[in-house]
Amino acid sequence: MLSLPSADQGLLYQYQGSWIPPFFIQGVISCQNYFHAHDTDILLVTSPKVGTTWLKAILFSLLNRGRYPNAQQHPLLTNSPHELVPFLEMQLYNKKQVPDLTPFTSPRLFSSHLMFSLLPISVKDSKCKIVYLCRNPKDTFVSIWHFRNKIRANLGKDASTIEQDFDNFSKGISSFGSYWDHVVSYWKESLENPEKIFFLKYEEMKEQPTIFLKRLAEFLECPFSPEEEVKGAINDISRLCSFENLSNLDVNKSGKVMMADKSTYFRLGKVGDWMNYLTVEMSETLDRITKEKFHSIGLTI
Ligand code: A3P
Repeated sequence: MLSLPSADQGLLYQYQGSWIPPFFIQGVISCQNYFHAHDTDILLVTSPKVGTTWLKAILFSLLNRGRYPNAQQHPLLTNSPHELVPFLEMQLYNKKQVPDLTPFTSPRLFSSHLMFSLLPISVKDSKCKIVYLCRNPKDTFVSIWHFRNKIRANLGKDASTIEQDFDNFSKGISSFGSYWDHVVSYWKESLENPEKIFFLKYEEMKEQPTIFLKRLAEFLECPFSPEEEVKGAINDISRLCSFENLSNLDVNKSGKVMMADKSTYFRLGKVGDWMNYLTVEMSETLDRITKEKFHSIGLTI
């Protein structure tokens, strides 16, 4: 660790071209060395604060919809989405011992914040599928800023101003980022290999959840049958995983997961909240970087 460049007052270290919080570096290395993907695995990959919690709930519900016909007994009512779909590097491999994954039944569903170049080789070499979710950089940044200030408050530290965090984010210094390189790495791969990587945008999912749920199910080779569609199975999952429903469940209101209060993973869940926080100058800066990085490769967010 001492040989790695650090930033953000030692809260991030640069490892293999990505900024990683120091307490997760061991988990990243261990997961790269020991995780062996199966052809049937499904990996949800995201940058922090783009809606990971939501997509974890959706993917779990989609893949397990036959197992829990009784809505009153659905695991999401008693477990955080982060307990049902763990992160490889931040939860499973972030321990002293290599985890026993045998309790996970096929199709195994995991999650990761790693950039494409940092993924374990077996994820790339196997036929395992990747669902990638991104979100517009302005809402992502505002969400990160709120989240970090909640963590700082829990640690008894002063809140940081939006200007302080903005400077780092716009320079590409953010957890598991840079944010833009992260998105670009999966966008390019998804164009080259659309059967392996399904590229989703938070804003589109918010606007038309049922359409994207249907596409997601098709990509994962578990399409909704005509009978399921008539019975409203798509809408049921969309409602179960909605911000309003999940954020009001007792299980998501108290207790901790990955060092943060579970409630911290649910703040507002809206598109465009950046307008309430960013100055015109900040907004223009992020727009300029986004244009430079994304537009030339045909990506609009
Ligand atoms: P905001 O801070 O903008 O509200 P992650 O899960 O990757 O940590 O991302 C957290 C962001 O997703 C937060 O955004 C949070 O409110 C939002 N979120 C959590 N659950 C959601 C849901 N079911 N639907 C939509 N957004 C959700």
